[in-house]
Amino acid sequence: MPPREVQEAGIEPFSLVQRPFTWRNMHLLNPGGGSAIISAVFQPQTRKTNEMVNYKDLGLVNTREMFAKAVKGGYAIPAFNFNNMEQMQAIIQAAVETKSPVIMQVSKGARKYANPTILRFMAQGAVEYAKELGCEKPQIVLHLDHGDSFETCKSCIESGFSSVMIDGSSLPYEENVAVTKKVVDYAHQFDVTVEAELGVLAGVEDEVSAAESHYTKPEEVVDFATRTGCDSLAISIGTSHGAYKFTPAQCTRDPKTGKLIPPPLAFDVLKAVEEKLPGFPIVLHGSSSVPQDEVDTINQFGGKLPDAVGIPEEQLREASKSAVCKINIDSDSRLAMTAAIRKHFAEHPEHFDPRQYLTPARESMKKLYMHKIIDVLGSNDKL
Ligand code: G3H
Ligand code: 13P
Ligand code: ZN
Repeated sequence: MPPREVQEAGIEPFSLVQRPFTWRNMHLLNPGGGSAIISAVFQPQTRKTNEMVNYKDLGLVNTREMFAKAVKGGYAIPAFNFNNMEQMQAIIQAAVETKSPVIMQVSKGARKYANPTILRFMAQGAVEYAKELGCEKPQIVLHLDHGDSFETCKSCIESGFSSVMIDGSSLPYEENVAVTKKVVDYAHQFDVTVEAELGVLAGVEDEVSAAESHYTKPEEVVDFATRTGCDSLAISIGTSHGAYKFTPAQCTRDPKTGKLIPPPLAFDVLKAVEEKLPGFPIVLHGSSSVPQDEVDTINQFGGKLPDAVGIPEEQLREASKSAVCKINIDSDSRLAMTAAIRKHFAEHPEHFDPRQYLTPARESMKKLYMHKIIDVLGSNDKL
């Protein structure tokens, strides 16, 4: 409660809403003046960043309703990774312009790079930014990508995440069940949704690498989902992390372009999982398509990404129509950003203001996100 002078002066105690202030040392009203001129010395109390905050207070939502609608409607929600402000801005601009729900996800590496506190305030800022851009009721999820332990998930839940992934996919089955159930039991107390994973993705990405790919065993999914109570399940059907999803030996080569053609995803495994768990939300990781025009631009302007290859978009479009309701994309955004920056530097070697090269990078990511939403996942016009 502000002091009486403040109430009588009719001054909006705006600061109380945003963060606690002390009202000590506050000198109100210019004694001689007719208008209320404040000469106040606000003393912001140090806010403990480890204070528990619920995502609902930040304007975020969990994935439950979003996934139910996506499964029913035959589309998938984009889950874009972010590490910095430009990615966040591009994600929100794209989601608002296409009227799409969106999952902003943060990896363990992103938390280390950007700082957990900063990322959580960025997510809160993202909600306000979406409103500022004209979206009345943004549907934004802040999701932990590849949570590696109960402790990491707990810490995210306590700092405003609305969804977490516990990735026990490399553990023995019973250990995966145990840690997933522990996270679910904790998360559900706060209405936070939990993604789990069964089956192992191949990949070369730092924090999430797995030497080989093991497709999800459809015969395990009912037992796993029932015993853990997870809200969605990431499965392995041949996608993998990073910009090199397949070795040249696993691909065929297009004789005209010389580009690699990857082997198809295991749609039979997806179908078998859907039959066992009808309507249950399924997640695909490692779903970047590694756009060859971006790869060519990178290579043309000094980069070295030979034989980078991803998942063809037609296959993701197909998957989106099924119970796959969350599709993870990170590498494509990295490629779009890198290509734009390399091109910009090649064309403007005199530039050194980050805004000069980050502006086209942000534009390029926004274009990519809009393309994914409209042309691949079909989550546009759902708000
Ligand atoms: O699946 C992993 C994401 O691409 C995040 O990658 O660990 O390099 O941030 P990262
Ligand atoms: P990509 O590397 O294919 O973009 O996959 C990202 C991902 O799965 C994040 O969890
Ligand atoms: Zn992943």
